[in-house]
Amino acid sequence: MPRTLDPELRRALAARIRYYNEMGIYDFYRRPPSHSGGEVAAAGAVDEQSGSFAEHTLEPGEEMSPRKAAAVVRPVPVDENIFEAIALKPEQSVSDPVKALKIIREDLGDCTRCVLHKQGRKQIVFGVGNPKAELMFVGEGPGADEDAQGEPFVGRAGQLLNNMIKAMGIEREQVYIANIVKCRPPGNRTPEREECETCSPFLMRQIAVVKPKVVVALGAVAAKTLLAMSASMMQLRGRFYEFRPTGIRINDRSNDPHWDGCKLAVTYHPAFLLRDPRQKGEAWKDLQMVMKELGLKAPKSNT
Ligand code: URA
Repeated sequence: MPRTLDPELRRALAARIRYYNEMGIYDFYRRPPSHSGGEVAAAGAVDEQSGSFAEHTLEPGEEMSPRKAAAVVRPVPVDENIFEAIALKPEQSVSDPVKALKIIREDLGDCTRCVLHKQGRKQIVFGVGNPKAELMFVGEGPGADEDAQGEPFVGRAGQLLNNMIKAMGIEREQVYIANIVKCRPPGNRTPEREECETCSPFLMRQIAVVKPKVVVALGAVAAKTLLAMSASMMQLRGRFYEFRPTGIRINDRSNDPHWDGCKLAVTYHPAFLLRDPRQKGEAWKDLQMVMKELGLKAPKSNT
């Protein structure tokens, strides 16, 4: 059974793999496990006779012998899932985005991967909209209305999101809308980090299929999960980020050579704007930045 890594180590390793992916490196090889159990020993190695740790310090000018090097560079015990994440996904060999999204939905199945499946969800809320959308909105997770109807942003926050989309001069049907978690957290609580990390790989795959020009993260949970960074909304808003869905092999010859990631902007969650309408002006600034990027013009009544 694969051992589970400490979450911090897992995050660091995932970040390193992403870094290599960005340089076009996708293939990683694992050393076979050593007979001493394959524990990590970066700076020191186990003395095979005594079983204690011994530092391999090199004399000036001494080159490390292959034997010594092999002893120092020990295999890292790796969670298989990390490597699974960088393999080509089944939908990536399908050119029709409708079919590709269907493959992801089928893969999700009647998901029981996190605790949300047993905390009162009625159904999985996958995502909705134009499978070739240039603009994608990502929220936090379904609320009661979304859970009942199986569609994201159909409640009060959804009405406001619809108005925001209209103000940008487009229709809801033209964009794609999804959430970080696909099951309703009980009592509309904020999804836990582990729930976000378990569910977001499916969203990453949806983004890679839709291939938008811009993703708008609605609120801090969406922004922090997509960007894998922790900062306040004040720090996150007001600029574009270069975004590539984590764990997806893109810019690969076997895949679409024309999509190499997209821009990501952060704005306030519509539910927050309902609570504090004074921030609507700030959100409108964020959307105007997105409109400029997409060459959209607000309809006359908004100007
Ligand atoms: N809030 C969200 O984050 N997503 C929804 O789908 C609805 C409300």
